[in-house]
Amino acid sequence: MSNVFPKGFLWGGATAANQFEGGFHEGGKGLNLADVLPGGKEARIKLLSDTGFDFEMDTTKYTYPNHEGIDFYHRYKEDIALFAEMGFKTFRMSIAWSRIFPNGDELEPSEEGLAFYDRVFDELAKHNIEPLVTIAHYETPLHLIKEYGGWRNRKLVEFFERYVTVLFNRYKDKVKYWLTFNEINGATHMPLLGLGFSPENEETRLQDSFQGLHHQFVASAKAVQLAHEIIPESQVGCMLIYAPVYAFDSNPENVTFAQEEARIFNNFCGDVHVRGEYPSFINRYFEENEIKLDIQDGDLELIKEGTVDFISFSYYMSRTDKKNKTPEEIGQGNLIGGVKNPFLKASDWGWEIDPEGLRIALNELYGRYQVPLFIVENGLGAYDKVEEDGSINDDYRIDYLRGHISAMREAIKDGVEVMGYTSWGCIDLVSASSGEMSKRYGFIYVDKHDNGSGSLERSRKKSFFWYQNVIATNGEEL
Ligand code: BG6
Repeated sequence: MSNVFPKGFLWGGATAANQFEGGFHEGGKGLNLADVLPGGKEARIKLLSDTGFDFEMDTTKYTYPNHEGIDFYHRYKEDIALFAEMGFKTFRMSIAWSRIFPNGDELEPSEEGLAFYDRVFDELAKHNIEPLVTIAHYETPLHLIKEYGGWRNRKLVEFFERYVTVLFNRYKDKVKYWLTFNEINGATHMPLLGLGFSPENEETRLQDSFQGLHHQFVASAKAVQLAHEIIPESQVGCMLIYAPVYAFDSNPENVTFAQEEARIFNNFCGDVHVRGEYPSFINRYFEENEIKLDIQDGDLELIKEGTVDFISFSYYMSRTDKKNKTPEEIGQGNLIGGVKNPFLKASDWGWEIDPEGLRIALNELYGRYQVPLFIVENGLGAYDKVEEDGSINDDYRIDYLRGHISAMREAIKDGVEVMGYTSWGCIDLVSASSGEMSKRYGFIYVDKHDNGSGSLERSRKKSFFWYQNVIATNGEEL
């Protein structure tokens, strides 16, 4: 088959500061949300869906794996060299807000923090790797959480504006591609991660989450405007978690239900970011859920003017749903809800594997918006085994990625404009939802374990060489 990936397609890998940098109290960095999240599946998953978290650390009870991460803070040169060896054209990373503004509300940034990212960007440039930078990836400074209540508080718009202005001015010659808020539409499910607050109770969860989202829409629009002013050639994307919603069967009731769920989860944030307007369907949802937003003068105009240049999204799973679920069916679906899809197998963490869903996602998004798309997260979290000779034969990961990249290729043939693909956790890192090291995504293995032990040494998995060839052939050989 002739090649369908465009010339200049941005192949690469993705990470987030809080999950891999480590150095949590070095270089003048202040504490952020991830620093107080305990490790371990049970503790972390419960916390993310719970209410009333006090944001205190308790080292007598828990470990805090994000503190050391995989020590990219000290090993970035070695890691970037490995990315270059794989042939990366781009590398997605985030900036830890609290390295730049340790508390988040200072007037002046930390030079030490800024200098760290200068070194990282310079190292990437040395290897001709284009940085793709997420400005906010689950890293709200702890002070903004404790003192201000996270994104519920409008003051954060002002602090964020200061933060992005510093970033754009400082890195204007180094970074062209920016993303505003990671998986912004996941906020209502897990406000703790995206919005930096723990709901007081279930009654206030939705109201506070949508108010927080409104503040992020305003902040994002402002960031887009500032980026375009300060870095004329910059391109700024939003970042969605996208999961096509399938009706469980052809019962029209279930189709309507699936459509409703998709509108709220998949379309709402994208519509605001790309079309610059609150979509009409949200009014009914707000009324039925008694959500009343505090929208200030000028907000809607700003949102209209600060629309994004492209959509980036993560794709891990689809969701299958029906209107009336039996008690047994509830909780059997994916992380983001729904029921079990009888046609799909799931990962060891229960995430249903659905490559075809990526083609569906790409077509849905492009059909709705006609703006370029960037897949900035996709991958398989799996247990890896190191053989006696040190090799790691992760054929399951290769199969997963091959399936998804093939689906992306089909979507491009369908006419969808795709800018690039960065596989999640290109180097093993701490899982966001479970705080584990053993949920590995990488092409590069990191010798670090759930109990904190390990030499932190890096080694190449079988998938490393496979992906290297995918990039070298621009997706022709999968
Ligand atoms: C996305 C996040 O939800 O999924 C990442 O943007 C996260 O931060 C990734 O790591 C995979 O999820 P997990 O829970 O397996 O780490």
